[in-house]
Amino acid sequence: MVMRIVDLRSDTVTRPTDAMREAMASAEVDDDVLGYDPTARRLEEEMAKMMGKEAALFVPSGTMGNLICVMVHCDVRGSEVILGDTCHIHVYENGGISTIGGVHPKTIRNEEDGTMDLVAIEAAIRDPKGSTFYPSTRLICLENTHANSGGRCLSAEYTDRVGEIAKRHGLKLHVDGARIFNASIALDVPVHRLVKAADSVSVCLSKGLGAPIGSVIVGSQSFIEKAKTLRKTLGGGMRQIGVLCAAALVALQENLPKLQSDHKKTKLLAEGLNKMKGIRVNVAAMETNMIFMDMEDGSRLTAEKLRKSLTEHGILVIPENSSRIRMVIHHQITTSDVHYTLSCLQQAVQTIQEPCQN
Ligand SMILES: Cc1ncc(COP(=O)(O)O)c(C=O)c1O
Repeated sequence: MVMRIVDLRSDTVTRPTDAMREAMASAEVDDDVLGYDPTARRLEEEMAKMMGKEAALFVPSGTMGNLICVMVHCDVRGSEVILGDTCHIHVYENGGISTIGGVHPKTIRNEEDGTMDLVAIEAAIRDPKGSTFYPSTRLICLENTHANSGGRCLSAEYTDRVGEIAKRHGLKLHVDGARIFNASIALDVPVHRLVKAADSVSVCLSKGLGAPIGSVIVGSQSFIEKAKTLRKTLGGGMRQIGVLCAAALVALQENLPKLQSDHKKTKLLAEGLNKMKGIRVNVAAMETNMIFMDMEDGSRLTAEKLRKSLTEHGILVIPENSSRIRMVIHHQITTSDVHYTLSCLQQAVQTIQEPCQN
């Protein structure tokens, strides 16, 4: 018997759909490093239009997209970037902006909702008169949605205000928009409006959108020209990428309209989990497709015990720490998968908490 698999580890685990595989097989391609791949051009043009920017560039990953953007904005070694202390660029990208880019990070505390305090941002900007001693602030980075806050959305107004601070001080604003479409759907604000104040945005195609590979960065024409050079330097110039871009074009068509349903399923799962004894979920904070499920002190539950039990039922999750599990909904999770997960978890919670009765 084939085991039912409910893969909640991340929204990066999706498999290409039949339509994506067909589009990949029949994609019109050419050498993109030479600038001739027609499918890549089509994807880049569509993404630039959707994001309200002049130009776009396909890159192999969100990590490379962020690195390229930071390095274009901070092209003088010893530049400083202001960013959140729990943001992806700072925590999960191998410190690439420092080790490869020569860029110094100045972290500000991320609030529970993924924002950084505006007064704290402005106070962190270095006084140019002190440049004999200090690095020079050149960039502010935001992340929308903010993954380590559980997929919280930054509003257009908040992003505008950060953009105003950046402008006032002659800085640039980059948005890590790995899941910007989730934010757009959750806030019901067009994606181009959400990033209007940004000089650059990196958007992942391989997260909520469900494409197998790639990200796109957007910005002004001159920004993208510099980004293209850096992409080559970093080894991210690839040849017949139309094969990948074709899948991404299908993802935009097929999966973008499904994000709202992903968010509804996330709420359904969060509400069900929150009813279980010993488990706590901040349902009000579940704005998009992520859930942080906490185990209450003294409940006998641990993340590892629950992960093991769920795995036996084909449900895959990743513990964040000993008392927290992260679950992420994507287009390949059905409402029935959510109910199945709730019922398996209920069973696991009972077995762990009341072992003598079994
Ligand atoms: C918010 C955010 N930014 C950037 C990335 C990096 O994307 P990639 O895994 O494609 O390098 C991720 C990946 O999970 C992410 O969650």
